[in-house]
Formats: sequence, structure tokens, C-alpha cells
Amino acid sequence: MRPEIKVQLADTSGIAADVVKQGHTLEVRNLSAFYGATKALENVNITYKPNVITAMIGPSGCGKSTLIRTLNRMHEVIKGAYVTGEVLLDGTNIYMPNADPVRIRRRIGMVFQKPNPFPTLSIYDNVIAGHKLNAGTRRNVNYDDIVEKALRSVALWDEVKDKLNESGGALSGGQQQRLCIARAVAIEPDIVLLDEPCSALDPISTLKVEELMQELRREYTLVLVTHNMQQAARVSDYTAFFLANEKRIGQLVEYNQTSTIFTRPKDKRTEDYISGRFG
Ligand SMILES: Nc1ncnc2c1ncn2[C@@H]1O[C@H](COP(=O)(O)OP(=O)(O)OP(=O)(O)O)[C@@H](O)[C@H]1O
Ligand SMILES: [Mg+2]
Repeated sequence: MRPEIKVQLADTSGIAADVVKQGHTLEVRNLSAFYGATKALENVNITYKPNVITAMIGPSGCGKSTLIRTLNRMHEVIKGAYVTGEVLLDGTNIYMPNADPVRIRRRIGMVFQKPNPFPTLSIYDNVIAGHKLNAGTRRNVNYDDIVEKALRSVALWDEVKDKLNESGGALSGGQQQRLCIARAVAIEPDIVLLDEPCSALDPISTLKVEELMQELRREYTLVLVTHNMQQAARVSDYTAFFLANEKRIGQLVEYNQTSTIFTRPKDKRTEDYISGRFG
């Protein structure tokens, strides 16, 4: 008998209706990822749809962080690490020989598990840090507007508007994480990658970041790694379940609408995982 799975599913009925900016598509084709001689991920095929939150779930070590880092060419920063296969951003392979990784990371922003504001920079300078790096010598940029817009979009503006010159490191953990998300969206990327963005946060900050992700989905394509099944069910529209095989190589087991994954998974392993039988 199918176990009863108690989760509250996101209301995704309004996906198309509330979009304010057309998002971008990221398509992973036959992707394998290696750390030197060790293969960590094998033959992943998945499409991250525009204006959609795709959650990636699976037990520790199944390759979720590895995969998310391949999506903006952060994987290769690790010595000896490389990929085979393709990642297409709106149809163009980000691994083309002449593709510029720095430009790609600008278009595909990332938020990490541990909030990592620049501790010596002010809140203001944290928000525009990526912007300044990328803008090069561009003049006439109104940073005040960028800072306000980004901080408003992460619902942090009212909390920090009177102390923009104070250190980013002096904020609470939840505020720091929203600051990092503000930094990521300030450069108006095409895709926002989030690797367990709430795992260091208390439940109230978690809820705020979840609401924020729902809001950002109206403008961006979001990829979310989470260990929290309730979170995947609450916020995501699509869910991908990963598992390492007997050789400890991560594979995509099942990908579908979140409601389907959590109520009628096709694969027995998915069902076992989401019902808490392993992992
Ligand atoms: N820098 C690295 N060098 C070598 N191997 C690594 C490195 N980072 C990860 N791995 C290996 O790759 C595999 C996948 O790790 P990864 O961090 O992607 O898993 P994960 O699904 O994100 O796990 P968790 O849920 O614990 O964050 C593991 O076997 C891990 O040991
Ligand atoms: Mg991880």
C-alpha cells in the first residue's frame, strides 16, 4: 500500500498568470561531472523551465551541489573538476569553447547554503558588489536605485534603509541571506541558483526566504537545492529526485511536477525517499 505522504503542496495554479518578466530556460543534456578520476554525476538530463521553481532533492552525497555548480561553471573552479555534456542557456551551450565563464556566472547567479556577505563591506556595497565587478568602467550607473530596488525585492529595505552604511556581517543570519539574494538579483541575472539557502536559518527567516522565492519566480527561473521536503513541496513547481547508485555516482531518478512527485511518484525509490524510508 502506498504510504500516506503528508505535505502541503504549493499552489501552482497561477504560474503563467502572475509572471512579470519572461524567464529563461536552462537545459541540461547528457551531463556527467567529475572530480579528477572520480565520477560524481552521470548522464543527467533535465530542463529548468522559465518562471518556475525547480527543487532538487535527494540524500546527502547524491550530487545536488555538484550539479548546481555545473549550471554556472562554478564546478570547474575546483582543481581537477570537469564536466562532459551540455548546459544550454536559451539554447546556447555555456560550455562552448569560447564561452566566457565570468559572463556566464553573471547571467546565472548563485546563492549558497551559508550566508556569505562580504563582512568588511557595508550593506550598500554588498548589494552592488557583483554589479561593480561586472560593470567594469560603465559610467552613469545609479547605484542608489539599484540598491533600493534589490533590497525591496528581497523585502529587506524597510529593515535596513536607515543603516545602509553598516557592515553586512552585522545583520542576522536571515537578513544576511536575504542580502546575499539581493546581491544575486541586483545584477539582474537570467537564472538564480540556490543551494540550500535556508538550512542555516530559523523557521521565520526560512518562511521569508520561501515567500521571496515565490516572488522572484515571477521574474526569474529558479533552481533550488533543499533537504527540506516540506520546503520542496511548499515552494517548488517541479521537483527532481537524485540518488547515488551502488558506485556512489549520482543520477536523476525522477523529474516531474512537484504535486506528482509527492503524491504519485513513478519510481519506487522516489516514493521510499519522500515517505522517509531512507536518506
Ligand atoms: N571538492 C570535491 N572534491 C572531490 N569530491 C567531491 C567534492 N565535492 C563533492 N565531492 C563528491 O561528490 C559527490 C557529490 O557531492 P555533493 O556535494 O554534490 O552532494 P550533495 O547531494 O550536495 O550532498 P549534501 O546533501 O550533503 O550537500 C560526493 O561523493 C562527494 O564526496
Ligand atoms: Mg550539497
